[in-house]
Amino acid sequence: MKIAVLPGDGIGTEIVAEALKVLKVLNLPMTLETALVGGAAYEAHGHPLPESTLALAKASDAVLFGAVGDWKYDTLDRPLRPEQAILGLRKNMGLFANFRPAICYEQLVGASSLKPELIAGLDILIIRELTGDIYFGQPRGRRVATDGHFPGAEEAFDTMRYAKPEIERIAHVAFQAARKRNKKVTSVDKANVLETFQFWKDVVTEVHAQYPDVELEHMYVDNAAMQLVRAPKKFDVVVTGNMFGDILSDEASMLTGSIGMLPSASLNSANQGLYEPSHGSAPDIAGKGIANPLATILSAAMMLRFSLNQAASADLIEQAVKNVLAQGLRTVDIYSEGTTKVSTREMGDAVVKALQVLVHA
Ligand code: IPM
Ligand code: MG
Repeated sequence: MKIAVLPGDGIGTEIVAEALKVLKVLNLPMTLETALVGGAAYEAHGHPLPESTLALAKASDAVLFGAVGDWKYDTLDRPLRPEQAILGLRKNMGLFANFRPAICYEQLVGASSLKPELIAGLDILIIRELTGDIYFGQPRGRRVATDGHFPGAEEAFDTMRYAKPEIERIAHVAFQAARKRNKKVTSVDKANVLETFQFWKDVVTEVHAQYPDVELEHMYVDNAAMQLVRAPKKFDVVVTGNMFGDILSDEASMLTGSIGMLPSASLNSANQGLYEPSHGSAPDIAGKGIANPLATILSAAMMLRFSLNQAASADLIEQAVKNVLAQGLRTVDIYSEGTTKVSTREMGDAVVKALQVLVHA
C-alpha cells in the first residue's frame, strides 16, 4: 500500500504528524512518501500543485492531506493560490465522490451551538459531488457584457452544468451508502429555479428505481439549510452538487460542536482516495501546537476503511479516539469546564496510547 502524505500549510503539518504517529502503531505494510502542496509548494517550486506532487498522488493508493492556504497568498493570481492544489487534485484524480460525515460525539454534545436534544446521537453523511457544477463548469471568466441588464459593462460569469453520467454516478454512491446506514437519501437541489438542478432531480429519481429498498426525498437547498438546524437528525444521507455541498457541509459540521473533529474522504471510480480533515489550514493558530489533530486522525481511519481495505484497523482508531474523549482530554476547540486541556501533540500521544491498548487487547 502506497500513501502520499501531503501536509500542506498552516496547521496541516502539525496535525498530519499526529495522524502518522497513530498509523505507525498499526504496523501495516505501507510505504509513505511526503511531498509539498499548497503555499508550501508555491514557495519552493512556484506552483501550489507541482507536477511531482501530482504524479506521486496519482501513483498512490491514497493521499493523506492536511490543509492548504494562508491569507498572505490571497493576492496571487488565482491559478497560483493554494486552494488550486486541492481543486487540481480533485480534478486530475477524478475524485468525484466526497464523503463528509457529521457525527456528534456523546462527550461533545455540549460543544454544539444547538440544544443538546437536537444533536445528541447525530450521525449524518453528506455526499457532495466534487468535480462538476459551477466549480469547474466552462465557460467562465470576465468580459464586457453584450446583453443582460447592463450591456457594455464589465461582467464576470461562471457556468453551472451537470452531465447525466455525472449525476448518475454520484446518485449510485449515495444510494449504496444509504443501504449500509438508515436507508434514506435526501437529494438537495434548486429545481424550482435552476435548469441544472431540475435535471439533477430527474436523474436522481431515475437512478432511484434501482434502489427500491432506499427511501428518496427531494429538498430545495434553502429548505435543507433550514432543516439542518431545525431537525438535523431527520437526515441520513444527503446527496448534492458541488456548490450546495460546500455550503451545507460547513453548516452540518458546526452542528457537531467542532469542525476539528470531522474527517472527509474524496474517492474516484477506482477507489483511490484523498483523505483530509474538513477544516482548513487555520493560519491564525499555526505553530502554536493547539490545533485539534482528531479530524486528521479520523481521516486516516477513513483511508484505511475506504481505500486500503483495512476496516478492522479503522474501527480501532475510531474507538481509540472515543476512549481519549472519554478520558476527558480536549484540545482548546472542544474544551469545556471539567475537562483537561491538551496540546496537539498530547492529543496525538493519547490516541497512540489508547490504540496500543486496543491493539494488544
Ligand atoms: C472545501 C473547501 C474548498 C472547496 C476550497 C478550499 C477550494 O472549502 O473543501 O470545502 O470550496 O471545495
Ligand atoms: Mg468548503
